[in-house]
Amino acid sequence: MPAIEANGLTKIFGRRPQRGVRMLKEGADREKLRREGLTAAVIDATFEVAPGEIFVVMGLSGSGKSTLIRTVNGLLEPTAGSISIDGQDVTHLSTAQLREVRRTKVSMVFQHFALLPHRTVGENAAYALALRGVSKADREQRADEALGMVGLKGWGGSMPSELSGGMRQRVGLARALAAGTDVLLMDEAFSALDPLIRKEMQDQLLELQAELGKTILFITHDLNEAMRLGDRIAMMRDGRIVQVGTAEQILNEPANDYVAQFVADVDRSRVLTASAVMERPVAVVGAETGPKAAHKLMRENQVPALLVTGRNRTVEGVVWEEAVADAVKRGVDRLPVSTEIVRVTPDTPLVELFADAASSRAPLVVVDEQGRLQGVIPRVTLLSALSVPDAVEEVPDPNAVEDAPVAADGQSALDQAGAV
Ligand SMILES: Nc1ncnc2c1ncn2[C@@H]1O[C@H](COP(=O)(O)OP(=O)(O)O)[C@@H](O)[C@H]1O
Ligand SMILES: [Mg+2]
Repeated sequence: MPAIEANGLTKIFGRRPQRGVRMLKEGADREKLRREGLTAAVIDATFEVAPGEIFVVMGLSGSGKSTLIRTVNGLLEPTAGSISIDGQDVTHLSTAQLREVRRTKVSMVFQHFALLPHRTVGENAAYALALRGVSKADREQRADEALGMVGLKGWGGSMPSELSGGMRQRVGLARALAAGTDVLLMDEAFSALDPLIRKEMQDQLLELQAELGKTILFITHDLNEAMRLGDRIAMMRDGRIVQVGTAEQILNEPANDYVAQFVADVDRSRVLTASAVMERPVAVVGAETGPKAAHKLMRENQVPALLVTGRNRTVEGVVWEEAVADAVKRGVDRLPVSTEIVRVTPDTPLVELFADAASSRAPLVVVDEQGRLQGVIPRVTLLSALSVPDAVEEVPDPNAVEDAPVAADGQSALDQAGAV
């Protein structure tokens, strides 16, 4: 069951908003509604957020992001369509019912988080709990825990005025975490922060997410932030969701020219990760394979090297054609495995792979935390991943390849080893 589900969600501001819904149905555009004094802030938004997912809504200022998240939170009632949280339809709830939903299901973090100036940091973090009537001892403990999670351990007794802007925003996050709901709604929560602090907060959110598995609906107008944080991203334009997809999908298969232009300037080497460009390893042998069999396999597949895996597909190394040929000649019965390979994790940004690719003769080997083989990245793949798809740029940039780092021995076996 989706954690959040929006179906045909529409929010129109102005007098007699239902008239706007009818106009939209009849094909009127946003501008026509505006001439009638109606603002179609969100139009027919349909999406699902899976439990534990970070779903980012991305769009320029005025595209309807805040309105969307406010309808999810019940701060605004939709003009049409519906919202469910955890399978419960929350579209038309009474105030009391809404309070219950916020108490148990969703917490919100805003851009400008207003701390109560005369309350301690701890009391601020525990604010939602106090409203719910949680006992003092209990809420102090939970606030302390939440402050610890956001890197503010020991600050509970301080006053907000003693905190920097970044720290105050952390208190906002701590308050939402202390509330203990499974769903967090974050509206431009990091947008007011300095770039470095913002990056820190993003890292922390990703860490927290990995640890706590919250469902997060995160709003931003910053594409890089969207791509860093989002498991999936919904691109909004003029009240409509124009594309939902992973960062890779949005970069590589933009739904229309608007999205394509939007993402054209993105630094692909920082957004795309090893997992997005890795290839299925085709030339792999078990460590117990003999040199003769390995040699045969290489010739049949015309590859200069084979990856060698042990139990559970853990990567042990690589064997090169010349070494195998030599082993066959000398009648050795074990594979001459070279351990000189570079292992990277699936979430490593491409920008961090270049130096490794340049220094490694073999393709980069992508392994999971247990060291199990996930894929390989030949150098050619790495380079082509950085070029913008044709749909976006008429002329492919010929310099893209020349600018890239080249191994000391030039082309070498690496490019041929692409088949590994
Ligand atoms: N309470 C409101 N009353 C009237 N118009 C509103 C209200 N809130 C937002 N709008 C309008 O709805 C549109 C979308 O705004 P908003 O959801 O705040 O966009 P974003 O968060 O993407 O910047 C804008 O044109 C804005 O002026
Ligand atoms: Mg907004």
